[in-house]
Amino acid sequence: MADGRANRTGIDVETEEAFREHAEISEGVAEFEKWLGRSEGAGAEWAALLCERLLPLVKILKSHFASEECSNLYADMHIRAPGFADAVERLFDEHYDMIREIESLVRASRSIESTFDCDREELTRRARRIIFALRRHEAEENEILYQACCDDAGKDEAKR
Ligand SMILES: [Fe+2]
Ligand SMILES: [Fe+2]
Repeated sequence: MADGRANRTGIDVETEEAFREHAEISEGVAEFEKWLGRSEGAGAEWAALLCERLLPLVKILKSHFASEECSNLYADMHIRAPGFADAVERLFDEHYDMIREIESLVRASRSIESTFDCDREELTRRARRIIFALRRHEAEENEILYQACCDDAGKDEAKR
């Protein structure tokens, strides 16, 4: 019996792994978004809970972004699909921006000492903006990986 998996290349395996990692991050982000929408309280206590959720997120993203930046999937993009090379460069720049913004939000939540200090609306707005940027970022990477590595029509288009 033919096993399609026997014909898989290293790129196929890496692409699947990238999609799997994105799906895991997406689940974590959905959980975080749910918490933002239903969490109660205010002041330092709420800000500490926000911080508790941001710290694992920043840890996961640092590791995810670092692995993308040294992955063959993206490193060879200028050969495999030159049409996406500029987009990949821009996406890698976004890694730095997103980590910087999350770390800034961690510092802002840590600095809150009382209800008076805590502008919960502003912190929530910043957290939602991070979620939005991250989702858009990961969706664009998925689209690029799909077209460059999985879809034959997309592969041809991206070579132009
Ligand atoms: Fe990325
Ligand atoms: Fe990613």
